[in-house]
Amino acid sequence: MSSSSHHDTFTLTDNKTGKKHEVPVIEGSEGPRVLDMRHLHQHTGMFTYDPGYVSTASCKSKITFIDGDKGILRHRGYAIDELAEKSDFMEVCYLLLHGELPSPPDKTEFEKYITHRTMVHEQINNFFHGFRRDAHPMAVMFGVVGALSAFYHDSTDINDPHQRMIASYRLIAKMPTIAAMAYKYSVGQPFVYPDNDLSYAANFLHMTFSIPAERYTMSPVLAKAMDKFFILHADHEQNASTSTVRLAGSSGANPYACIAAGMVSLWGPAHGGANEAVVKMLQEIGTKKRIPEFIAKAKDRKDPFRLMGFGHRVYKNHDPRAQVLRKAAHEVLEELGIKNDPLLELALELERIALTDDYFVKRKLYPNVDFYSGIMIKAMGFPVSMFTALFAIGRTVGWIAHWKEMIEDQQALKIGRPRQLYTGKTEREYQNMDKRSKKSIFNWLWNTKEKVNY
Ligand code: SDX
Repeated sequence: MSSSSHHDTFTLTDNKTGKKHEVPVIEGSEGPRVLDMRHLHQHTGMFTYDPGYVSTASCKSKITFIDGDKGILRHRGYAIDELAEKSDFMEVCYLLLHGELPSPPDKTEFEKYITHRTMVHEQINNFFHGFRRDAHPMAVMFGVVGALSAFYHDSTDINDPHQRMIASYRLIAKMPTIAAMAYKYSVGQPFVYPDNDLSYAANFLHMTFSIPAERYTMSPVLAKAMDKFFILHADHEQNASTSTVRLAGSSGANPYACIAAGMVSLWGPAHGGANEAVVKMLQEIGTKKRIPEFIAKAKDRKDPFRLMGFGHRVYKNHDPRAQVLRKAAHEVLEELGIKNDPLLELALELERIALTDDYFVKRKLYPNVDFYSGIMIKAMGFPVSMFTALFAIGRTVGWIAHWKEMIEDQQALKIGRPRQLYTGKTEREYQNMDKRSKKSIFNWLWNTKEKVNY
């Protein structure tokens, strides 16, 4: 039973004034209790300070529960490894959006609705032709996804539950099509229309890898692995990109534009861009004998290099998704007849060494979802530049489920507007030009060689 209730309180004492402030404590259905700080400023004139929101719960949610110490990830109460094993991505989408596993007729109905919304408006094709062929697929995708708001802006009254549902289903349905189009555009091949006879994941492989000149043989093992990849990336509580979608959506912005904002945040190498960064890192390491050199770089605080695919804000134990992906990567390599894949061998050795190194053990740094995913999807034929786009396909349902949950909780819905600790200049008088220093901060600019003229 999911609930939240006020039970006891937490007393804050301002040692400067001796004043005490009783903060209500709220308990959820599981996980850490929270201090209800909504009235702190009103009662004490103070703010909380928590850059990166390390200790801050930004909302109540019923969608996903993570216990980072135990390496637990559940969607609406169902464990991720069970869903990855026994469910499929369409069913997980329904679960995340509606809160329960679908009945047989609902599963069929939901899948049919999504399948019949996978095409994009023919004019969307024009957007791609404005990009250079070598543009990063994420730059193309968030541009096109944002442009969907131009096609559907008038038909999206976010206060109408039916229209919220249509926008949610449209985004889930069209993300693979847009991603496949971004790939096709980058390799100069024609766009491939969706095939409504195929499953969601198989259809994505078809739109990406089939060409008009020949029949595309679909490997059921690869289609299953793709489906599992989407399940494992579907949602992850209040991560950076989901929090971006919630913040953008809190102002009432168009849901298509909010999802585009989530994609931008996901693209960062510290977040969803890490799967691309992992493979590039493994390729740079090259051989097992160079692993110690990179481990040393990762441990050197003066060196900005971090071991990509390692560590997590929440998991201080194995990321359960990494465990499933490691196994799936083996299955895909076997299906493709790839023996002793050098990247996988290197990754396994890197994981073995890191997990015995005190620096990583002490900081509880384990492989995360991005550590093995790239090895699997690279073997499936995706270029490294497409890795984060695949993450975005899976995460779209998580983003939209959180957006929907936020909009539907009208009582709690408030525009997100954090405050700050101001450390800038205090008040000072305006200085006329003749009173100012003659020093320039632009020396570096005037001395540069290249002429920047656009
Ligand atoms: C995802 O939030 C989510 O749920 C995200 C995600 C999702 O599904 O949405 O799970 C997907 O983004 C997974 C993470 C992918 N990113 C990477 O693999 C990039 C490499 N990892 C790091 O950048 C880092 O671990 C983060 C960003 C993932 C987490 O950073 P935190 O929580 O801010 O941790 P931190 O920077 O405070 O690190 C704590 C310590 C520091 O050392 P000290 O200052 O204590 O000496 O651990 C060190 C860090 O320097 N550290 C690492 C490290 N990660 C943390 N050192 C070397 N290599 C690393 N990868």
